[in-house]
Amino acid sequence: MKVSPSVLSADFGNLARDIQMINDSKASMLHLDVMDGVFVPNISFGFPVIKHIQALSTKPLDVHLMIVDPDKFVTQVRDCGAALMTVHYEACTHLNRVVQHIHDAGMKAGVALNPATPVALLRDIVACVDLVLLMSVNPGFGGQKFIAGVLDKIAELKQLMAQKHAHALIEVDGGVNAETGKALAQAGADMVVSGNYLFKSPDPQHAIELLNDL
Ligand code: DX5
Ligand code: ZN
Repeated sequence: MKVSPSVLSADFGNLARDIQMINDSKASMLHLDVMDGVFVPNISFGFPVIKHIQALSTKPLDVHLMIVDPDKFVTQVRDCGAALMTVHYEACTHLNRVVQHIHDAGMKAGVALNPATPVALLRDIVACVDLVLLMSVNPGFGGQKFIAGVLDKIAELKQLMAQKHAHALIEVDGGVNAETGKALAQAGADMVVSGNYLFKSPDPQHAIELLNDL
């Protein structure tokens, strides 16, 4: 199982130390949550912070935009050095166009679904994206409780991808710990995001390794 630690739960007073910890871990990517206070009821951090993180990180950046109209920011996300730009289905009027713009900018494209958004809505886009991010909490905050309905959504998504000959990675975000991570691995998730569980652990690198070995 690939692991993408969420910087939202890092210690922002010691960010360089926490990024170094992730560099030295088995993490596959580094997850960055951008929130605008409109799409979600919270504001996190923006491009200047991501640029600093990029300069410190040896892991590819997995940028999760919880913002309205993400199409406006494709170039800025690319200029931050992101490898993967994930936008919300619910935030894009012209999702196909946004995905094209992300690819034209040279990044991998991901589409995220809120817990209440059905997988079936991805029917006409799933073959065009590199990753589907299934939210297992309502986006906006770290440290929330895992919504187990995501396990059935993974099965549905796998079925849809088989029908559409799609090869997107399945990433799950929210409330992931050793226990929920195990259920996600069994359900067939390819990558998990984890924030609170990893950063509150006495040995975050060991916790990353545990998830990685699932
Ligand atoms: C929530 C964010 C998540 C968050 C996950 O809106 O998208 O990436 O940081 O944090 P935990 O693992 O604490 O639920
Ligand atoms: Zn996220």
